[in-house]
Amino acid sequence: MTAQSVDITAESHAHALDAADPLAAFRDRFYVPPGTIYLDGNSLGLLSRDAEAATLVTLDDWKRLAIDGWLQAEPDWFTIGERLGALMAPLVGATADEVAVTGTTTVNLHNLVATFYQPQGRRRQIVASSLDFPSDVYALQSQIRLRGGDPDADLVLVPSRDGRTLDEDDLIAAMTDETALVLLPSVLYRSGQLLDIQRLTAAAHERGIPIGFDCAHSIGAIPHRFDDWGVDFAFWCTYKYLNAGPGSVGALYVNRRHFDTAPGLAGWWGYLKERQFDMLHTWEGAGHAGAWQISTPPLLSTAPLLGSLRLFAEAGIERIRVKSLAQTDYLIALLEASGLTAEPYSYRIGTPRDPVRRGGHIAVEHDAAPRIAKALKRRGVVPDFRPPDIVRLAPIALYTSYHDLWQTARHLREIIDAGEYLQGPEGRELVA
Ligand SMILES: Cc1ncc(COP(=O)(O)O)c(C=O)c1O
Repeated sequence: MTAQSVDITAESHAHALDAADPLAAFRDRFYVPPGTIYLDGNSLGLLSRDAEAATLVTLDDWKRLAIDGWLQAEPDWFTIGERLGALMAPLVGATADEVAVTGTTTVNLHNLVATFYQPQGRRRQIVASSLDFPSDVYALQSQIRLRGGDPDADLVLVPSRDGRTLDEDDLIAAMTDETALVLLPSVLYRSGQLLDIQRLTAAAHERGIPIGFDCAHSIGAIPHRFDDWGVDFAFWCTYKYLNAGPGSVGALYVNRRHFDTAPGLAGWWGYLKERQFDMLHTWEGAGHAGAWQISTPPLLSTAPLLGSLRLFAEAGIERIRVKSLAQTDYLIALLEASGLTAEPYSYRIGTPRDPVRRGGHIAVEHDAAPRIAKALKRRGVVPDFRPPDIVRLAPIALYTSYHDLWQTARHLREIIDAGEYLQGPEGRELVA
């Protein structure tokens, strides 16, 4: 086939792409619900056989070892946060001791902001964005209140010019001598825009401001180079692209130049491991990212990650990113070439076309988005809906095929052709 002769709308082209996909075999390692095309792995990733096996081992360890599992399980439960952190470090471009698997996204945010937000004199503001995930905004508001500040004055939510994306120039312009901290998402949860983390970090540091990132929508989808970029801290979940299960444990990164800084919200699990069970009332931090652990790790929501990270080590995050970009490129091109972005279909692509600015999912906008999301689901395609008008479609490199995407485009067409976008109750479901 020559480049000129390729018809990207052809089903055979999707099959050809699948046949040439070096990661295709990983799909068999996952439980894809029968009869579904699962495009919601950016909300809740699917269970892999590897994660299942790791969880069953932990259950068995509990059965056999009981309390001795803390030291005799493999890996031992006592240092599981550090051990899994070391396994995850390659995904974020960090050294092993700069990542800890612990807590949850919002709890880790609280701990890290409590650590790095040190309002002083004129410097009282936190710069975030108007497109942030709500939990981050609630948490920042409460952190400001805890320091006696006024969120209305001290939380700067940089506006978006187009309602979808953020302009790095605007974010940088908001970093002033009144800024005490910058906290931003790596990838925006609605449009899927990937911010220029390196540039934002350099700009914050030129102004003497610490900067951290919520990487919930980039971890496991794109490579990160936190150490090279000099990021101060970051946090993320493991239930989306990392496929560690509903409500699974979170993770955090602290750049090693901050290892001497005391965690804002300390707990005994961050204590120096050798002396943790001395049970002293004087704080002695672990001296690495593990110091930001607060509580006993939830082993049953941590164990799946062990299996899942083995899959990532095998597949390689660089190869995952190459396929993810190829799939989001394909989906955008397919929707356009099939006429779905023109009337009467009128789907809009809300995600940046530039691959450097694109995360792992595509925001397909439509005025009837909630009904379209529900119609897709009835047809066995699982997307999610985000207000006001976004159907998010996430091809997951480890288990989504090109043919899945081809079929999804067909369903999007048929939903309009058959008038299904006008049927059924309006509005979103309780959990969208
Ligand atoms: C970008 C982002 N930040 C924070 C959260 C909140 O996560 P958690 O409920 O694990 O605290 C989410 C949840 O989906 C998210 O997508």
